[in-house]
Amino acid sequence: MPDLSIKISSLYLKNPVILASGTCGYGIELKDLIDLNSLGGLCLKGISLKPRPGNPPPRIHETASGLLNSIGLENVGIDRFISEKLPLLKDYDTCIIANILGDSAQQYIELAQRLDAHHDQIKAIELNLSCPNVKCGGIAFGTDPKLISQIITGVKKVTNLPVIAKLSPNVQDIVPIATACEESGADAISLINTLLGTAIDIFRKKPVFNNIFAGLSGPAIKPVALRFVWQASHAVKIPIIGIGGISKWEDAIEFFMAGATAIQIGTANFFNPSASVQIIQGIKGFMRKMGYKKIEDMRI
Ligand SMILES: Cc1cc2nc3c(=O)[nH]c(=O)nc-3n(C[C@H](O)[C@H](O)[C@H](O)COP(=O)(O)O)c2cc1C
Repeated sequence: MPDLSIKISSLYLKNPVILASGTCGYGIELKDLIDLNSLGGLCLKGISLKPRPGNPPPRIHETASGLLNSIGLENVGIDRFISEKLPLLKDYDTCIIANILGDSAQQYIELAQRLDAHHDQIKAIELNLSCPNVKCGGIAFGTDPKLISQIITGVKKVTNLPVIAKLSPNVQDIVPIATACEESGADAISLINTLLGTAIDIFRKKPVFNNIFAGLSGPAIKPVALRFVWQASHAVKIPIIGIGGISKWEDAIEFFMAGATAIQIGTANFFNPSASVQIIQGIKGFMRKMGYKKIEDMRI
């Protein structure tokens, strides 16, 4: 039997398949659709210090093989996350990863400190350094290696939980950014967040979204995501978590071959809630057929 388990620093996952932040709510919403215990991990909706109402509609727009979203990072805020959402997951046997966002390095640090107190349940912290659709912050963190280092160094001082830096693809060159993450002590890098895109409503002669630009995800972005994973995994030694357009097991295998240690499934959850479970089975079947014993054996 192939061994699908992987390790990212002190984080042990029974398999490398994680649901991506923002596409599985606070996890519990999916409990009647899939067996949460079968997942390697659940990366929960991005959390900020204060609750965020998100953007006014429209927030979602379908494109050919993709999805544009402008949710605006709606979330309940750290207090309600800890008191209401986290307890609902306490009986599940899957790795809970909290995803956080802030307008300043200090906010990321404060959030990490708050979450660290719940290390019995939260097994890693993913830093969303890459939000394209929020006016303040967001984009600047993801494109500036100095700011990224400041956040990671600060966060590492307040928590022993593994810290995953989630990076933006909306940059010229990912290598200096991935290197800055590694040098500042990040335990892993996840790539990619959504690509900046737009759509025009031709009958209203206006952009579809109030913010004009939105984040593109889904199968359309897979080749770009694979390229980023390849480039980052050849530039740093820390594990890379591949994200972007993965909707079937064959996609996942491509990411492992390009250098990913684990993968996240995002938009596919919307059109096939069982995608993650099917992908785990598919990876297992492929490894058995091809004689791979560990995920890392598939790396090119
Ligand atoms: C509706 C929606 C909401 C998202 N919210 C977040 C979020 O809160 N934090 C984050 O880091 N990424 C967020 N993402 C990005 C996804 O986690 C993922 O990186 C991206 O969608 C690419 O993967 P995919 O093509 O499999 O969807 C969101 C994506 C979508 C589609």
